[in-house]
Amino acid sequence: MEKEPILKGIKLTKDFGGLRANNNVDFELYQGEILGLIGPNGSGKTTLVNMISGNISITSGDVFFKGKSIKGLKPYQIGRLGIARTYQIVKPFPGMTVLENVAVGAMFGSKGKKRSTKQALDIASEVVDFVGLGKYKTLKADSLNVASRKRLEVAKALAMGPEVILFDEVMAGLNPGEIDQAIELILKIREKGITLFVIEHVMRVIKAICDRIFVLQQGEKISEGTPEKVLNDEKVIKAYLGKRYKQLAA
Ligand SMILES: Nc1ncnc2c1ncn2[C@@H]1O[C@H](COP(=O)(O)OP(=O)(O)OP(=O)(O)O)[C@@H](O)[C@H]1O
Ligand SMILES: [Mg+2]
Repeated sequence: MEKEPILKGIKLTKDFGGLRANNNVDFELYQGEILGLIGPNGSGKTTLVNMISGNISITSGDVFFKGKSIKGLKPYQIGRLGIARTYQIVKPFPGMTVLENVAVGAMFGSKGKKRSTKQALDIASEVVDFVGLGKYKTLKADSLNVASRKRLEVAKALAMGPEVILFDEVMAGLNPGEIDQAIELILKIREKGITLFVIEHVMRVIKAICDRIFVLQQGEKISEGTPEKVLNDEKVIKAYLGKRYKQLAA
């Protein structure tokens, strides 16, 4: 892993008024890997992703995609460069069908290439099949259950044709069977050559999919390495895992 990372954060810091939600966070994401981010509620995980994706401004520090700073770019510009994301709180366009929701993703991404509606719908159709929502194409997005909404969120990101996807808790609210299926889907996405940054609370997911992980606690990175190393790190067990780990590791 001596190569230059595809995505890299340097001393990323975010202040919300008097609250420092991220403090000098460094990370490297290498082409083809799955990097996990864990940490207690409110530790700054979504804030970090929001800075990377341009949804919020960066107080200090910088973020580089393929060696170039993307700091200050708008979310749509970052999307066009090849970085897609999902949202922790899924927000489909409610009046639109599953296919139409994903077609919007296809229109927005794709390295700034202009696409016709027909092309966008064709791409959307392929992606919807890929994530396993094929039979729901013509349903309104708001009629989907949680697991399918999460898949829709993944489909919208995939339709942008990204090189990197930032997943913010795509497994939250899923039952164990649905989690197994979601793990399969994420590994299938990696097989397509897409690089993944994954915020996740479910430890067995982390262990199943991540090459490396890092941990935030109160906005600070407190540990990083292989899942095995980090999940056995005393600091991490104290700060985060404890009871939760015992519940979820089984
Ligand atoms: N837009 C905002 N304005 C003010 N404070 C915010 C904003 N977004 C997040 N925060 C605060 O920053 C801190 C980190 O929040 P963040 O959402 O990044 O945590 P998280 O690790 O994603 O938590 P969770 O596991 O609950 O999703 C919290 O204290 C939160 O209240
Ligand atoms: Mg969050």
